[in-house]
Amino acid sequence: MDPAEQPFLVLRDDDPRVAVLTAGGSRLVATSWGAVLRIAEPPQPRLLARLDAFVATARRAGAEVGELVRSGAAELLALQEANRLDYSHDPSMALPPGDLASTAAQWDDGGRVFGAHLDGLLVAATVMQVDGERAETLFTSVLRAHRRHGLGSAVKAAGVRALVAEGVRTLRTGGAGDNVASLAANRALGYEVDERWVTLTR
Ligand SMILES: CC(C)(COP(=O)(O)OP(=O)(O)OC[C@H]1O[C@@H](n2cnc3c(N)ncnc32)[C@H](O)[C@@H]1OP(=O)(O)O)[C@@H](O)C(=O)NCCC(=O)NCCS
Repeated sequence: MDPAEQPFLVLRDDDPRVAVLTAGGSRLVATSWGAVLRIAEPPQPRLLARLDAFVATARRAGAEVGELVRSGAAELLALQEANRLDYSHDPSMALPPGDLASTAAQWDDGGRVFGAHLDGLLVAATVMQVDGERAETLFTSVLRAHRRHGLGSAVKAAGVRALVAEGVRTLRTGGAGDNVASLAANRALGYEVDERWVTLTR
């Protein structure tokens, strides 16, 4: 399809087409970012210690932090549904699947899920997809009542730690420009923003 006919176009912010399209009447409707965490060989001990500290803090507060297997799909779906309205609805951002079969499919093709339970309830989870030495976070979700307690960072740190132990060396993530919480949580873990994107519409 001709880019001019697409309802939304997502371009890197340094793409020369951004200026051309906005001069031609396209409007900026959202911004987004991509961030990377590169792991050295051998992995930086300070980084590993920082990741471990996030997990340890959550455990001291009573959370059970660890990897979820596919039989946890129903509780993952319940968590993601509880938060559905809180995800960015920027058209460049994917939303978590909304039914059990597609939630279970998040474990396919290198999918890994890490979560935190409090008193048996799944209160935080992150979904990552691994491809060889690379991994990408797809979604991270913390129940509203449990936010700002380090649980988002803890589940992500647990995931990064497990994947690094298996040889993953480049981890990517991203989010909507207006998602201050997501950006802050990722920066706290050591991710660095290296890409910025704009979503344009006519
Ligand atoms: C994004 C999200 C997962 C963060 O989880 P969380 O458990 O609240 O995050 P943490 O408590 O681990 O916070 C980590 C850092 O982010 C900061 N932070 C968290 N929420 C914040 C907010 N609303 N505003 C500013 N900073 C925030 C914390 O202060 C902390 O930074 P610090 O270590 O420098 O103090 C959670 O807000 C959420 O589920 N949002 C809805 C779904 C979503 O948007 N997911 C992300 C895209 S897939």
